[in-house]
Amino acid sequence: MLASLFLAFSSLTAVQAALKYKGVDWSSVIVEEKAGISYTTTSGSTEPLEKILKESGVNTVRQRVWVNPRDGNYNLDYNIKLAQRAKAVGLDVYIDFHYSDTWADPGHQAIPSGWPTNIDDLSWKLYNYTLDSSNKLAAAGISPTIISIGNEIRSGLLLPTGSTSNFYNVAKLLHSAAWGVKDSNLSPKPRIMIHLDNGWDWNTQKWWYESALKAGPLETSDFDMMGVSYYPF
Ligand SMILES: *[C@@H]1O[C@H](CO)[C@@H](O)[C@H](O)[C@H]1NC(C)=O
Repeated sequence: MLASLFLAFSSLTAVQAALKYKGVDWSSVIVEEKAGISYTTTSGSTEPLEKILKESGVNTVRQRVWVNPRDGNYNLDYNIKLAQRAKAVGLDVYIDFHYSDTWADPGHQAIPSGWPTNIDDLSWKLYNYTLDSSNKLAAAGISPTIISIGNEIRSGLLLPTGSTSNFYNVAKLLHSAAWGVKDSNLSPKPRIMIHLDNGWDWNTQKWWYESALKAGPLETSDFDMMGVSYYPF
């Protein structure tokens, strides 16, 4: 019993030592600060959250980007302000494009208001938006280490056009999004992530990637990372 406990702990330590990204999703910080919330260290002094995170061993912050939310929260300008604060204390930034005006998850992947819905125009729009947003980040001095093209897209993205009932469309959209990043002025280039949920379900992951890659337009060289949400409850 004791021996096996010890083994478990020592392998956990090995895993932690190998972790490259020690990240926190801090997207809501500006919203929280506007609501009067502040952050204090364990010793009780109030400090900007980025400073507390940095001093606690975090090296990367994740930020969600919405296209045109009604109140402006989580749009690109909001995210540039937040990313500049992270950069100022030496934190890396991981940008999570939701490609929606609000939350994107397996049940919600609404096409942003005013975007075309037929697959050809939508793919161009997605390419243009991703290229433009990446160039705006670059112009603001932000070089994300990771960019996720979509958030939890197990059922597809930009629905209904990009639904997994038509993997050709999913693949075409992701190929366009990836090349928006690749053709941008970002330097060095970020790693491009495809992000699904149900990370515990290997059959779903396998089905999804095999189907998307078999469809044609998406190539393995279009992305660098397979991201998962993992809620073990
Ligand atoms: C994408 O951008 C190009 C070049 O600026 C423009 O000609 C084209 O109309 C745009 N397409 C869409 C669908 O926004």
